[in-house]
Amino acid sequence: MSLKEKVDLTRIPQHVAIIMDGNGRWARKHGKNRIFGHSSGVNSVRETSEGCAELGVKYLTLYAFSTENWSRPITEVTALMMLLLKTIKAELKTLLKNDIRLKVIGDISKLPAGVAKELADAMKRTANNKRMDLILALNYSGRSEITRAVKEISLRVEKGEIAPDSITEELISNNLYTAGIPDPELLIRTSGEMRVSNFMLWQLAYAEYFFTEVFWPEFTREELYKAIIDFQNRERRFGKTSEQLVTK
Ligand code: FPP
Repeated sequence: MSLKEKVDLTRIPQHVAIIMDGNGRWARKHGKNRIFGHSSGVNSVRETSEGCAELGVKYLTLYAFSTENWSRPITEVTALMMLLLKTIKAELKTLLKNDIRLKVIGDISKLPAGVAKELADAMKRTANNKRMDLILALNYSGRSEITRAVKEISLRVEKGEIAPDSITEELISNNLYTAGIPDPELLIRTSGEMRVSNFMLWQLAYAEYFFTEVFWPEFTREELYKAIIDFQNRERRFGKTSEQLVTK
């Protein structure tokens, strides 16, 4: 039985989020520079997106560039931005063909103008696609996202539009970048690091975490299947007891 056949297609997580880590270490292992690691990582982005769409995942969020990543050497930051630009241009046709909608979470106003323009164009052109949302976290920080939501809600309170008492979890969710997108049920992080690194702090409250030693450029469909099978073998209790889950 292949790994793919072991995946239960009736229990696919709706939303998978991935912290793509280990491009640099993978490159060093192969005697190459870090940039080579990132461009090889693009193959895994393609492979994972296709794999998720095929399985029926509805939302795939990839942590492509964190707010903290600006502090990397300027050559690496520039190379990452160029890679992003090139990839969006090159993959737009595939996104359209596969009925995939591109979305972005994060503060894209701080991205280079060319990148922001290409992203806006790709988002517009794929806006009516229905099969899966591919969500790129770019210049993203979970804490900034929550801070921004708090500011927006505070302004509405100040204007008298809402009472402090009517601030609910739902209202907060609706003021995040991910408004309207269900929370991820599965978070995958590659390269053996076991941290959440400021990623989707609010949204990951009930997610299952899957950590793998595999570096991001080595992450294939098979690795994706392993993560989903592992997810399907866990019991999601949401604070309840096992017995309560059986009786519902
Ligand atoms: C982490 O590896 C990877 C990144 C910070 C960037 C991820 C970007 C890509 C895979 C390419 C562009 C993405 C898209 C969506 C087109 P690392 O550099 O932190 O590796 P290290 O921890 O081994 O140094």
